[in-house]
Amino acid sequence: MRAKLKVFTNIGELLTLEGARSKQARHPQQSDLGVIKSAALVCRDGKVEWVGHECDLKTKASDAEFISLEGRTVIPAFVEPHTHLIFAGDRSHEFEWRIQGQTYQQIAAKGGGIRHTVNETRKASVAELTRLAEERAEVFVRQGVTTLEVKSGYGLDVETELRCLQVARALKGPRVVTTYLGAHSRSPEFPDLDSYLHMLCNEMLPRVAREKLADRVDIYVEEGFFSVEQGRTYFRRAQELGLGITAHVDQLSDTDSTAMTLEFAPQSVDHVVFASDASIRKLAASGATAVLLPSSDFYLRMQYPKARAMIEAGVRVALSTDFNPGTSPTQDLSLVGVLARLEMRMTLPEVLVAYTLGAAFALAREAHVGSLSVDKYCDFSVLSGSWSELFYSVGRHPIQAVYKSGEPLLRS
Ligand code: NIG
Ligand code: FE
Repeated sequence: MRAKLKVFTNIGELLTLEGARSKQARHPQQSDLGVIKSAALVCRDGKVEWVGHECDLKTKASDAEFISLEGRTVIPAFVEPHTHLIFAGDRSHEFEWRIQGQTYQQIAAKGGGIRHTVNETRKASVAELTRLAEERAEVFVRQGVTTLEVKSGYGLDVETELRCLQVARALKGPRVVTTYLGAHSRSPEFPDLDSYLHMLCNEMLPRVAREKLADRVDIYVEEGFFSVEQGRTYFRRAQELGLGITAHVDQLSDTDSTAMTLEFAPQSVDHVVFASDASIRKLAASGATAVLLPSSDFYLRMQYPKARAMIEAGVRVALSTDFNPGTSPTQDLSLVGVLARLEMRMTLPEVLVAYTLGAAFALAREAHVGSLSVDKYCDFSVLSGSWSELFYSVGRHPIQAVYKSGEPLLRS
């Protein structure tokens, strides 16, 4: 079959992120954005074949379909690397309790929090969970996301966890990375965390690996949830089974869970709000990406992670919404970016790299997405203004069109 060749021309400004790619998304500077003015982009069979100044374009109109982007700005599509997309019900009542002074942990201890969402999710059918997941995925795509991480973790029993992972795997639209988060909280069927963990390691992890339902595993290590030692047991098993590793670490307190997770060559360590200076040094020296989730810190009225110290130490940073019904009931990337800039003092180039290439590294997809580089997927957004307008006005998404593998996923 003849190769499918598409040439996007008349691009006012295009960000390749080439400099960030050569630095593996560490220490990003404005000069790493790889800005090309009057650019063209050649896409062969869904992948970038060439990118550069339009005046250097060699492809002829007879070989390819030409598409003018009318002088607009093109950026690599966003990668959303941490979502709890699959759940039923909401927790708006708990939000009110928190306003009245109850803490997240107090609500969880009396059977609310994750447990509440587990009860709602167990009652939901595949059709209902699919409808909710599709609606939510579309909200991300409208904001320029073409790669989306989706966690399970609101089933906590074999049947519901598998159902949620199947719904995630079947999602249409963005590229999906699935993460098994059975170790989100104790399953109500088990008397304690140890007996639940035993079942996870002996039954669930082997099954998830065998049926290829998840690309990686996640665990919530926190006081009142899984301990550091339980985390080690879980990761040892995941590693034996060849599953990728990520974790919710040092979110509400310093449990030293960042350092423990780094023993297992994780793809990412997420939250890291209370990570110690020693952990930040270890993180900088590792291949792991720190995923920062400032909208959950905002909703919990917590401190924010030390993004400046991390970036300056050489940590590769990603950003994410942490979309979930409890700690971060928002899918808004603009809120995340504005909080990153205002509260964590990240510069706009740092935020842009964090939400593209940094996030691609966090999902071990850096060879395929996150920058407009030759041989990566031709995934990009066309903006309705300049890239400098991104992550500035909360709720405003200046995205005019979104392309995945060179094909429109969304066009307004
Ligand atoms: O990333 N901390 C653990 N997991 C979620 C919250 C889950 C929930 O409250 O439903 C988080 O913040
Ligand atoms: Fe989370």
